[in-house]
Amino acid sequence: MAKTAEQPTGAAGRLVGVFGDSLPVQDIYSPEGSRMYHALTQGDRSEIREILRVARGGAGPVLDLACGAGRLTLPLRALRHDIVALDSSAEMLRLLQQSLGDTPAAGPRVELVEADMTAFSLGRHFGLVVLGATSVTLLDRRDRGRLFARVADHLSGDGRFLLTTLEPTGTSGQVTESVQLVIGENGEHPALHLLTEHLDTGRNVRSISVLRQTVTQGAVVKNELFTSRTHVVTVDELRGELATAGLRLLGRYPVAGDAAHDYRVSLLECAL
Ligand SMILES: C[S@@+](CC[C@H](N)C(=O)[O-])C[C@H]1O[C@@H](n2cnc3c(N)ncnc32)[C@H](O)[C@@H]1O
Repeated sequence: MAKTAEQPTGAAGRLVGVFGDSLPVQDIYSPEGSRMYHALTQGDRSEIREILRVARGGAGPVLDLACGAGRLTLPLRALRHDIVALDSSAEMLRLLQQSLGDTPAAGPRVELVEADMTAFSLGRHFGLVVLGATSVTLLDRRDRGRLFARVADHLSGDGRFLLTTLEPTGTSGQVTESVQLVIGENGEHPALHLLTEHLDTGRNVRSISVLRQTVTQGAVVKNELFTSRTHVVTVDELRGELATAGLRLLGRYPVAGDAAHDYRVSLLECAL
């Protein structure tokens, strides 16, 4: 189900110009991209405190949509409800299965489902549905409508749907870019990751790219580019789309993050 990579914009687009055909471009959630995303983000604790604070004391079971390799799924076990973790990437789910195997078996059950979050039918209801990491912005308006209809169909009467989203803080029509270097690993080898975010509020598009340079014996032996293009949507627009699916926005909470970004992340609490 892996998507073909979007053409990168901004600095990442210029990198493609510099390296030419020698630079393979893959989607961030392709099999190789999934492994890279997991290696880069597994220590990232963002959103966890905010989601657990709103969800604590609520009903289960839990449905973690676009769960990836389980960055949120694993901490969600603290709620002591069984969890269904759903993602369209088989590789992400394999990585999550691996992490589950590395942790004690006692505790809530975690079931993995490979499916599209805009077209799933699990035949049961959930007290909590979570969609973190601003993954709602992976979808365009039509697919967000499908996603919200699926969520409404799977949410129990007193259940909560918690999703995070981001809104640009600059003036409309602005184009901004940030570049960050993260030193990590590619398997056994050290790797440099040049992360670029290109935010175009005129076209309502945010492109994220990672140039990974794998280093062996002091030399870069491999260059790869991973990209993802996301949609910019306001909370007011989301409120309207949620309402169309029968979901009410009950609360909006700030999510702590890097102040250097040109956007703010919010946690939205919704119910039927
Ligand atoms: C930003 S990652 C979030 C992963 C994890 N929840 C986290 O907090 O790190 C987005 C995830 O969405 C998945 N994804 C993308 N489109 C999807 C779709 N249509 N249905 C289900 N999963 C999807 C990707 O495979 C990826 O694992």
